[in-house]
Order: sequence, then structure tokens, then C-alpha cells
Amino acid sequence: MTALDRLAERQLVVVTGKGGVGKTTLTAVLGRLMARRGRRVLLLEVDPRESLHQALGTEPSGGEVVPAGAGLSIQNLQPSAVIEGMVREKVPIAYLAHKITQSPAFHQFVEGAPGLKETALLGHAYRVLQGSHRPRTDLVIVDAPATGHSATMLAAPGLLAQASEGGHLGDMASDLAAFLADASRCGVVLATLAEEMPIQETLELIELLGTNLEIRPDFVVANGLYPVLASAPGRGSAKDLLRARRRMNESELDRLALAWDGPLLELPLLPLDRGPALVDALARLFEAADA
Ligand SMILES: Nc1ncnc2c1ncn2[C@@H]1O[C@H](COP(=O)(O)OP(=O)(O)OP(=O)(O)O)[C@@H](O)[C@H]1O
Ligand SMILES: [Mg+2]
Repeated sequence: MTALDRLAERQLVVVTGKGGVGKTTLTAVLGRLMARRGRRVLLLEVDPRESLHQALGTEPSGGEVVPAGAGLSIQNLQPSAVIEGMVREKVPIAYLAHKITQSPAFHQFVEGAPGLKETALLGHAYRVLQGSHRPRTDLVIVDAPATGHSATMLAAPGLLAQASEGGHLGDMASDLAAFLADASRCGVVLATLAEEMPIQETLELIELLGTNLEIRPDFVVANGLYPVLASAPGRGSAKDLLRARRRMNESELDRLALAWDGPLLELPLLPLDRGPALVDALARLFEAADA
């Protein structure tokens, strides 16, 4: 089974990695590839700086679901907006719901309750998959916050379930924790550069996910690899620099291989700006590497 075959069986996939390694780009690439396999895919972006739409060439989401080609949609989602939406559902009188969500006590609760915001985000994905939202969705891919935060996010529903001991919120959190623990339905993809700090964070996250949550990532993507210049004759400072960068990539990949024996996909650094052309080119290379 290839990495993409395995991913196509999932309902929820969390893409994470150190800041700037290509998480958003990879989320877009995987979204395109899964949609091409006939899955109805929603990409959820957590970062309020919104950049997923640029990768796919759509309008910014601003919280709405935006179509991004056949079988693919994107949504930028802020946890506070999800929690406020939940209050509006439970309190159908608009004026009252507004009063609650604007009250200082409510804000203190949202900010103070451990794991509430993270649970709200994943809970939104879970509800989308259960079909309570249109368009129908088979697979949600979350462009998650950087490494440390994503481990917190994945642990949050379990912790919230323990802390709240039943009740509506506790039941919701414990359903969600069970869903996240189901490795046949939920997966994690780690993005990294083959450089010292991103590889270090990747190794630490693999360890953390395994020990704390018994989660083994579906695969690791080493993104932005420098080209092999062995066949290009000649010297020159630019070529020497590229060769040195490539050697660094290779030694960092060796370091990764000592601790990670699961699937590793390699993607090159391409001379393209952020946008659909980059995503399409990386999607083609991803499929070729995964074959
Ligand atoms: N393989 C690649 N080749 C060329 N450019 C790339 C590649 N992968 C990503 N990029 C570019 O690198 C930049 C960072 O990528 P991206 O925004 O996907 O990273 P990120 O991990 O989501 O960052 P952040 O942590 O800030 O959210 C973007 O401009 C993107 O277009
Ligand atoms: Mg990003």
C-alpha cells in the first residue's frame, strides 16, 4: 500500500511540522491528490494569517467554506468562532446568545478551560465528517499549528474529557478522543525540511506522539530538498553552496532514518512562488515518489 492509498482511507488527517517547513503547501498538495482520487475533501486552516487560499488560488475563506476545485474546499477556522457557533446552536434566541458570547465570564471560560479551543476545532472537523454540514465531506485535512501545539491539540479532547467527567461537553470530548485514537480513521502527517532544527523537532514529535498518544505518523515528508548537482560540471560559489546544502540535507535525512523507519517522501525545492503551479508540480512529484 502506498502512502497515498493509506491516506485515502482516513477521515481526518492532521498535517504538522515546524514553522515554515511547508505544512500549508503540503496540505494543499494532499487535498488535490485526495480529491483526484474521488474523495470529497475539506482543508481546515487554523492559522489566522490565512495562506491556504493562496496556495490553491482561491478567495480567502474568512471563516466560510470556499470551493477550491473538484471535490475540494477550504475553510479557515478560528476556535472562538466555533465555540460561539456552539452557543448559538444551544441558545436559539439570538439576543441571548450574543449576550453570552460577549460576556467577560464567557471569554474567561473559553481562554481558561484547558484544551477547550483545540477540542472545538477538532470537534468541528468531526461534525463535518458526520454529515451535519454541507457539502458532504469524506476527508478533513487539518493544516495544524506548528509541532508543539499540534501535540497539545491532539491530546486536548482526552484531557478535557477527563477534566469534565461527563456532561454535554465531556461526552463530546470523549467521543472525539476515541475517534482520534482510532488509527484506521485518523492520521498524522509530519512535514519537515532536511535541516538540523526541523529534523530535531520531527524526531521529538514522533517520540512525543508515540509515548503520550500512541500515535504513529502515516508518513514524513522531507520538503524543499536541494538538487543533486553531481552531474553538473564545474565549480563556482553558487554551485558549491548548493552542493553543501544538498550534503546537509543528506546527513539530516540519515539522522532521521536512525529513529524513523516508517514511510518517507522526498520533495524538492522548486523555483516557483506560492500558488497553484507550485502545488500542482509538487502533487505530480509526490505521486511519482509514492509509486
Ligand atoms: N517544495 C517547495 N518548493 C518551493 N517553495 C516551497 C516548497 N514548499 C513550500 N514552499 C514555499 O515556502 C514557503 C513556506 O511554505 P508554507 O507556507 O507551506 O509553510 P508552513 O509550514 O505552512 O509555514 P507556517 O509555519 O508559517 O504556517 C511558502 O512561500 C511556500 O510557497
Ligand atoms: Mg502554514
